[in-house]
Amino acid sequence: MEQNYNETELQLEYIKKCKELLGARSDIRPVYRIQNEGCQMNSLQTETVAGILDQMGFARTEKEEEADVVLYNTCTVRENANQKIYGHLGYLKGIKKAKPHMKIVLFGCMMQEEHVIDTIRRSYPFVDLVFGTHNSFKFPELFYAMLNSDSQIIDIWKESDRIVEGLPSARKYSFKTGVNIMFGCNNFCSYCIVPYVRGREKSREPQAILREIEQLAGEGVTEIMLLGQNVNSYGKTLGTPVTFAALLKEVEKIDGIRRIRFMTSHPKDLSDELIQVMAESKKICHHLHLPMQSGSSRILKVMNRHYDKEQYLELVRKIREAVPDISLTSDIIVGFPGETEEDFLDTMDVVEKSRFDTAFTFIYSKRTGTPAARMENQVPEDVIKDRFARLLSLVQEQGRTQSARFTGTVQEVLFEEENREPGLLTGRTQHNLIVHVPGSKELIGQYRQVRLDTCKGFYYFGHLV
Ligand code: 5AD
Ligand code: SF4
Repeated sequence: MEQNYNETELQLEYIKKCKELLGARSDIRPVYRIQNEGCQMNSLQTETVAGILDQMGFARTEKEEEADVVLYNTCTVRENANQKIYGHLGYLKGIKKAKPHMKIVLFGCMMQEEHVIDTIRRSYPFVDLVFGTHNSFKFPELFYAMLNSDSQIIDIWKESDRIVEGLPSARKYSFKTGVNIMFGCNNFCSYCIVPYVRGREKSREPQAILREIEQLAGEGVTEIMLLGQNVNSYGKTLGTPVTFAALLKEVEKIDGIRRIRFMTSHPKDLSDELIQVMAESKKICHHLHLPMQSGSSRILKVMNRHYDKEQYLELVRKIREAVPDISLTSDIIVGFPGETEEDFLDTMDVVEKSRFDTAFTFIYSKRTGTPAARMENQVPEDVIKDRFARLLSLVQEQGRTQSARFTGTVQEVLFEEENREPGLLTGRTQHNLIVHVPGSKELIGQYRQVRLDTCKGFYYFGHLV
């Protein structure tokens, strides 16, 4: 794996060049608006692009009408994400008519699909710059090219084994952030487009990750979220293989870091070693996101998930035994091709037995190019809607019961922001439960003991003790 530091220097040069160029031009005001779609890894990439624009001297706005540069980091995991972008481009066309100097930039997962690029070329010629997931590190260079060009620039790479470290980032919070530990996915779950748009799994070197976290801790970050499509297989492809559990042990040693989270765990790769590290750790939060996708062993096989209903339930049992107060969350897909009522009842059964704090429920979305899209027995829409409603109702009822289990206890809360209601702060427990507490904004970024007084479904009201 090539970890490319010269590339970083080259891109930092382009940031300077853009800044000089913009300083000398009066046709584009350096004001941007950036919109993020999709997962936490996208959010992190969005923060990098924002950090680069900030270094170029840009100011940020949340209003498209005020911006001279608008950027979209796109997602394509489900079809509605794509429809949203196309719908929005229609709206932007109107704004650009009145403001022809406005620049429109699209990047991220959706741009890795050939049919999307064809559509942009054909129907959206007013989009100025398009790049993908594999060459996002080239953003400064491509942005510079865009400032010097009147024609549409599209640069998409099919694959890359490069990891470029050390580009700037505009973090949303000063005290918590995500850290990429790996990119891509090798699992090829039969419904999922991610391996096609994000490429093969590649892990960052542990030293690079640890150095970054040490630096973040030095800047006042106390909570980190280690990010990857399948963190449990971290390190397998490195020259000197390392396990995710071993990486966690090293992260634990870093002074200043108080909370460690990670996402996403694939059940097939969740090791006993990891469960033990979680149980022994003082810093790893008692929250595990463990997507089940389906409770039916037959469907799980067709989904290519490499575990069955019993193995999933056994994992849940082992985790609860090792970390009794664990908060478990999950992802579930309804209406995968060929799903019968019996399969669906297996999903309901696993949900009941697993007692999730939250589960994200998704209607199966056909993604062109995936094996599942070619399966013939797609489930009728009315059947899917009925199952989705039943599942959602169970998940919500269970979520309320599960979340309420901490009522009356004292928990450590990291305060994150002011609530819309004056005088109230909002924070999270290690279980990722949201708590609203009366307090002043000086507490933001700090940890305090809080008694959880009342549970309102998915959040608490509490008071400082
Ligand atoms: N349709 C519906 N949901 C999907 N997911 C991934 N691909 C699809 C699809 N084609 C869901 C999975 C995954 C989450 C991020 O998105 O549940 O865990
Ligand atoms: Fe998609 Fe499966 Fe990879 Fe998750 S593990 S990104 S669901 S292919």
